[in-house]
Amino acid sequence: MQHKVILGLETSCDETAAALVTEDGRILANVVASQADLHARYGGVVPEVASRRHLELVTPVVREAFQQAGMSLSEVGRVAVTRGPGLIGALLVGLSAAKALAWALRLPLVPVDHLHGHVASLFLRPDPAAKRPVRESGPGEGVRGNREVPPVLPLEPPFLCLLASGGHTLLLDVRDQAGYHVLGSTLDDAAGEAFDKGARLLGLGYPGGAEIDRRAREGDPEAFDFPVARVPGLDFSFSGLKTALLYKVRELGPHELERRRADLAASYQRAIVRALVERTAAAAEQIGAERIAVVGGVAANSELRASLPDAAFAPLELCTDNAAMIASAARYCKEIPFARYLAIDAYASSAA
Ligand code: KG4
Ligand code: ZN
Repeated sequence: MQHKVILGLETSCDETAAALVTEDGRILANVVASQADLHARYGGVVPEVASRRHLELVTPVVREAFQQAGMSLSEVGRVAVTRGPGLIGALLVGLSAAKALAWALRLPLVPVDHLHGHVASLFLRPDPAAKRPVRESGPGEGVRGNREVPPVLPLEPPFLCLLASGGHTLLLDVRDQAGYHVLGSTLDDAAGEAFDKGARLLGLGYPGGAEIDRRAREGDPEAFDFPVARVPGLDFSFSGLKTALLYKVRELGPHELERRRADLAASYQRAIVRALVERTAAAAEQIGAERIAVVGGVAANSELRASLPDAAFAPLELCTDNAAMIASAARYCKEIPFARYLAIDAYASSAA
């Protein structure tokens, strides 16, 4: 008898994604349509625009996944979908599509927590020869353009996980594949948000993480002294840093900003990376972690990668939002049997 695969869907923010993953974590297809270019002119994701675009993209993206894998709907054993946290309208598009597919095929549905999905990117078995994700927009955004050798995955718990993305910055104690315990989180902006807002202040466009990363390579990270907030416990705070950059940019004026942009990017990035690395080291010591892993869009940052040389990083295409990680997490979640899922709702923020 042939083994059935998991169809994963992810629409929590501005990426419409579908993937086909085997029960043992092999990626057969991983399609990501990024809407970043659509939101760039607004300097951030516009929720209503995102929902509408998800609606247009979800069917072609699912079709593309089946085409990439050379498979048909009859080979799907269950449907996994991000239930939250995220933009509620965006989540509802993926959840409705997943319900419709599961219902039409009389399959179970597995609702997945997006953060668990990021952690579960480490439980996949990426095939180095597999096709890269298909993305909608051109170069210059996200982690595109960077290519690295995939690390040794799947990673076995226990490990300490730093999850740093546009929406979240968390330190997680991962004891098994089914979940995690939150050790610390951001009190204000997420690390990716700090990158994006900083990039905006520097006139580098949206999303700005990858662009700051690029510019920082030509700058002096010691040129400006930006503060790293030290809040109690294992939490993070990035809003003061953003304000410090704002004041510095104002103080310098447009001409000097132009001239010192690379130095500003390098110094600003250094402060974010330092905060992430210091807190991660403190958490590792506190729980006696022997392994550290980093996931989420900011895990693509080259200075962060260089600063944590012994940490496990997911391959770049699995760092930013994708559906393979959602299908991966589904393997360790409770499934809802056929038809009992029709009334379930999405959630915008984590219950905790
Ligand atoms: O995980 P992700 O795709 O979406 C969320 O779940 O939020 O992360 C997107 C974030 C954005 O803030 C983006 O600027 C940041 O990841 N990012 C980076 C880099 N590439 C993407 N930040 C720093 N350096 C990068 N190379
Ligand atoms: Zn994410």
